[in-house]
Amino acid sequence: MPQGVDAPRSPSHVSVLPVEVLRLLCPAPGQVLVDATLGAGGHARLLAERLVPGGRLIGLDRDATMLELARPRLADLPVTRVQAPFSQLRQVLDDQGIAAVDGVLADVGVCSDQLDDPQRGLSFAQPGPLDMRFDPTTGEPASALLHRLNERDLADLFWRYGEERFSRRIARRIVEARRHAPLETTEQLAQLVRRCIPRPAGRRRKPPIDPATRVFQALRIAVNDELGELERLLKILPSCVRPGGRVAVISFHSLEDRLVKTAFRDRSLWEVLTRKPVRASAEEVRNNPRARSAKLRAALRL
Ligand SMILES: C[S@@+](CC[C@H](N)C(=O)[O-])C[C@H]1O[C@@H](n2cnc3c(N)ncnc32)[C@H](O)[C@@H]1O
Repeated sequence: MPQGVDAPRSPSHVSVLPVEVLRLLCPAPGQVLVDATLGAGGHARLLAERLVPGGRLIGLDRDATMLELARPRLADLPVTRVQAPFSQLRQVLDDQGIAAVDGVLADVGVCSDQLDDPQRGLSFAQPGPLDMRFDPTTGEPASALLHRLNERDLADLFWRYGEERFSRRIARRIVEARRHAPLETTEQLAQLVRRCIPRPAGRRRKPPIDPATRVFQALRIAVNDELGELERLLKILPSCVRPGGRVAVISFHSLEDRLVKTAFRDRSLWEVLTRKPVRASAEEVRNNPRARSAKLRAALRL
């Protein structure tokens, strides 16, 4: 490798519920599957290995950086990587000349690799620009949203997507702060939020999670319209999957899980394969704390 050229980064993201995804999607040679959230390519690799010979996997991600990061991991497998939001899955399949697939996986939300990159502005633990877009070429960065929304809408956003108890206080402080100067960095926002949230009374130890966690999560969900995207995916899924095909959705937020549960309730379209959402075992959570809030639901297309 020439001097001064960085070696390709290997992904740090650990895929959640890998065994359960395989059990519920039943990938088999010759099948065509979709990974709607390719991310670091962990699930995609597990699935694509089981589609050969004769099958293929179409992997979507909104984030071009993730598609590039996943490339080496999938190089020896029949995987087509496409940059697109999963709400456009029908269009992507049309472009590929595919009428219907045998299965779809969606593991929604964010990858560790995106959180670890300070330039994405997704983490309160890293100084960086307040951007948060999965696709930084479209839409509005978090800093612009914080500038545009009025106090009430900010408070609603933090409450609805972050269940943040101090949402009103935080919204008020943001509106006060931005009169003097725009909030443009993760550090500015994280410090502002930390100042709004009292330390738990009677306890000396640090709070179990950073007080900025919920506000950052809420902003990320809003910036990327994550619930709208999932709703649109669930609406088009029946037109993308053949009868007898399977879908699996992993979500990390109660509002997302509710959308999935409600969509699978349509008994004219789906037979539910998971009466209750499948959760990670204690051992998986020990090895991969992100798995703690993962909920997997799967269904068979009728
Ligand atoms: C939790 S990660 C997926 C990890 C992957 N399953 C693995 O094993 O490496 C979620 C990925 O979905 C992508 N993503 C989020 N919302 C999306 C959307 N609406 N359309 C397409 N990709 C999306 C993110 O950019 C991120 O790379």
